[in-house]
This record gives sequence, C-alpha cells and structure tokens, in this order.
Amino acid sequence: MRKLAVELGERSYNIYIKAGLIDSGELFEPYCKGDNVLILSNETIAPLYIERLSRAFTNKKVYQFLIKDGEQYKNLDSYSAVLNFLMENGFRRNDTLVALGGGVIGDLGGFVAASYQRGMSLIQVPTSLLAQVDSSVGGKTAVNHPLGKNMIGAFYQPDAVIIDTDTLDTLPDREYFSGFAEVIKYAMLGTEAIKALLQNNLPEIKLRDKGILAEIIYYSCRKKSLVVASDEKEKGSRALLNLGHTFGHAIEKLTNYNQYLHGEAVAIGTVMALNLAFIKGIVNKEIVDLYRNIFVKMELPEYSDDSIIPAQMLTAMKLDKKNTSDKYRLVLPRDQDCILIEEDNLELLEQAISQQLK
Ligand SMILES: NC(=O)c1ccc[n+]([C@@H]2O[C@H](COP(=O)([O-])OP(=O)(O)OC[C@H]3O[C@@H](n4cnc5c(N)ncnc54)[C@H](O)[C@@H]3O)[C@@H](O)[C@H]2O)c1
Ligand SMILES: [Zn+2]
Repeated sequence: MRKLAVELGERSYNIYIKAGLIDSGELFEPYCKGDNVLILSNETIAPLYIERLSRAFTNKKVYQFLIKDGEQYKNLDSYSAVLNFLMENGFRRNDTLVALGGGVIGDLGGFVAASYQRGMSLIQVPTSLLAQVDSSVGGKTAVNHPLGKNMIGAFYQPDAVIIDTDTLDTLPDREYFSGFAEVIKYAMLGTEAIKALLQNNLPEIKLRDKGILAEIIYYSCRKKSLVVASDEKEKGSRALLNLGHTFGHAIEKLTNYNQYLHGEAVAIGTVMALNLAFIKGIVNKEIVDLYRNIFVKMELPEYSDDSIIPAQMLTAMKLDKKNTSDKYRLVLPRDQDCILIEEDNLELLEQAISQQLK
C-alpha cells in the first residue's frame, strides 16, 4: 500500500492508495469515532460499491444517502437534503461522512461535512480518476449556484483519503482518459516521475494496469499535496494548479458544459497555454510536441471546433474567478515546470487560442 501524508499542521491527514481498499475495515476504523457513519454516493456508483464499503464499518450504524448522477445535482437542494438526513438521524459532529464517488460526491459531501455542526469527520473515497488525483485532495469543497460553478463552499480538509484503484475498472473510458488531463498537468508542473510513467507505460495505462496507476496516483497526490501544503487557501502558488484551466473553463462555459468533459476542455486549454508559452519564447518546441503527443495518445482532444470565437473566450476568461487584476492571470509551461504570469497582450492571447480552433 502507498501512503502519503498531507502536511497541514493540525489539519494533516493521510492518503492511502491500493487495489481493494474499500474492503479494509481496519483502515477506516480510526476515522470513525462516533456511532454513526453516513455513506454519500450516487445512483451509478452505489450499486457497484456501497454494500462492500458498508461492510467495512463493523460496530457502527451505517446509513446510505444517494443522489442522482450528474454535475447538476451538486447543488443547494442536494446539500440541504443531506443535512436534513443527518439531522433527522441524530448525527453528531464526531460521526463520519464518507464520500464514495467522483468529484461531484466529494465536493458535495465535503461541503456538508464542513458545515454540519461546524464540521464533522470526513473520509473521501474517490472513485473516478479525476477525484483520485485531484478533487479529493486539498480540501476545496463546494456546490454550484445557478449563476456559477462552485460558488458556495469552504476549505475543509478530510480526515483521510482512501483510494481503491480497483474502482477505476468500472469507470467509463471517456471519464478515465479525461482524468489524465490533470495527471499530465502534474507532469508539466515538474513531476519527472509522472512524465516518465506517461512516456514509458502507455499500453499499460490504457489497460488500466493497477501497479502503474497506483504510481501515477501516488505522484499526482504528492504533487498536489505539496502545492496545497505551501499555499492551502490559494493566496499564491496554489494557482499553478490552474494550468490549462483558465482557457479550459472558458471552453466549458462557451460550450454550455455539455460538449466536453472537464479534462477534455482542460486538455485543449493546456495546449493553448503551451502555444502562448511558445509564442512568448518561454518553452521549447520539443516540450510542446512532447505534451501534445501525450494528449493525443491519451485520447484527449487538442482542438475545439470553431463554434468558439476567440473574443468570446477572452471575455469568459476575464470573468474567471481566479483573476484578481485587469490582466489575464495565466499559468504557462516552461521546459521543466510552470510559471504564473499576467498577460495583457490580447493579440498574443487570440493567436494562442485560434491555433486550437478548427
Ligand atoms: N475540490 C476540488 O479541488 C476539485 C478539483 C477538480 C474538480 N472538482 C469537481 O469535481 C467534479 C468532477 O469530478 P468527476 O470528473 O469525478 O465527475 P463525477 O463525480 O460526475 O464523476 C464522473 C462520472 O463517472 C461516474 N463514476 C465515478 N466513479 C465511477 C466508478 N468507479 N465506476 C463507474 N462510474 C463512476 C459518475 O457517476 C459520473 O457519471 C466537478 O464538480 C468539479 O467541480 C473539484
Ligand atoms: Zn481540473
């Protein structure tokens, strides 16, 4: 088993990674101090894993609460439904909420746990690749508001993250490959081990080899947790994790969130960031080609269709909540890592965007 400590002082916690972990009761036990456990999941994931996971909690009263599958259910209605359930069943703050699912369940469950009685115990059991390498680590929790994604939330660290790599077997192909956009991001941020794993193990990765995946997840969580440990509330360097995301969020928004999965939009956005870095002379052509090649091999798109107009992209990017000044705050790749820049040359931005529209 791979074990990783996220160092955040009093809020430190461990991440455990291995095939078959949802059956290991002894791993969960130290994080369940109260009498009750609520497993939050959705209607797709629960039939696959919830009974097995429920059996891991011996001597506890285990409750299950399911929401419908979909980003649109990461909302205030679901949030209040879970809170009602906790209230009606007499949950206390030392009882544990276990979020079994992808990023939607993790974000919703995390925000419920953050706010129920000002904070109850929380275990993240991420089941999608995106959740295993990204959303379950770092303590950002949220639900969506009709006027904006992730607009209502809190920073709240879990007590543990338990990653069972076997759950990836049932993940649809498109969701699986989409998660690799974040993995590639960690490579570009300077994680040589991931870069090497991606370059040398493509066939194994496509076959969802658990050994290779455990390594990839381990190094991804390690990179994310190091960045988070240095800047938990995103006052500075945590913004590096937004590589490809300012472009990507704009693509998601302009295509009404129904054309691309998050990772697919981030893949196109990352190529736009590579373009801009290349135009500005920050990154070498070999690095640009290397990563573009990896995106293609991981079945991720490089191009968006030309229904997207660069000027609209720029407007959408301006509204990104990560922008603090009048300029565009962007993360750009260099040969070995990435830097944060502020860009106000609209011509260069348009050029970088246009190259990925066809
Ligand atoms: N908190 C953070 O730091 C952070 C970071 C990135 C993304 N997010 C959030 O995460 C969400 C996206 O996460 P996601 O991509 O996991 O989406 P998701 O939770 O919707 O899961 C994707 C799909 O895969 C299914 N699924 C998940 N695990 C499965 C499994 N093992 N077997 C079969 N099907 C499975 C889900 O039911 C869903 O249909 C967004 O809401 C995003 O805002 C949060
Ligand atoms: Zn992302």
